[in-house]
Amino acid sequence: MVDQHTEVTLGHNYDGIEEFDNRLPNWWLFTLYGAIVFAVGYWLFYQTFGIGYSQNQAWNREVELAAQAQIEREMGKEVTDASLLLMTKVPAQVDAGAKIFQQKCVQCHRADQGGDIGPNLTDDYWIHGPDPIQLYNTAMNGVQDKGMPSWKDQLGPVRVRQVVAFVITRKGANVAGGKAPQGKSTAEWEKENAAAPAPTAPEKLKEAAVEKPK
Ligand code: HEC
Repeated sequence: MVDQHTEVTLGHNYDGIEEFDNRLPNWWLFTLYGAIVFAVGYWLFYQTFGIGYSQNQAWNREVELAAQAQIEREMGKEVTDASLLLMTKVPAQVDAGAKIFQQKCVQCHRADQGGDIGPNLTDDYWIHGPDPIQLYNTAMNGVQDKGMPSWKDQLGPVRVRQVVAFVITRKGANVAGGKAPQGKSTAEWEKENAAAPAPTAPEKLKEAAVEKPK
């Protein structure tokens, strides 16, 4: 190594140990300036423009993705009666559904699901069928000419599953002051569904809807 010692000392002398006034080594200066440049970039990237995920955001995102994967593992990618019933056993899913219901459904089905503009969801009577998959199809596709919106685009299949899981848990709650029964009783539906297997396609659901009260 080149000896860069200058003869200029700072005049400090401690027991014969003197302090030189040397240039700072380049490697040291590069580290310092590099750190400053990095800090500015880091600040802009995470704080000012919010491009990068903060640790909290990264964590939340991972939790979200894990929840999504969890749904697919537990409920399957296919929506069936069984998969929807299974979902009602998972408190996190039902809670999520309850929140969605409070946001999107209460104005027509009432906060206790007793019905208002829309039918009572806690009684034993159903216009479009009580089977989980029938509820799911009704919520996904809506009943446009009767004022029930389609939730397919606004909520998407996962959140519709959650809200339907919640609705299933409210079946038979028979809340006080609910709207008068509309449609056919579960027993009647069961007879009908047994004769013709529960519709899984929206087309079939419409057929079922047309041949209403006897
Ligand atoms: C703008 C009012 C409105 C909103 C908001 C609404 N609904 Fe409905 N809903 C209705 C009406 C009206 C019907 C009855 C349709 C018919 O008569 O065919 C209905 C029917 C239903 C049915 C079928 C009931 C049966 O007897 O077969 C289900 C299930 C349902 N809604 C769930 C939901 C869910 C879940 C949400 C929120 C994501 C929701 N609704 C939001 C008005 C609404």
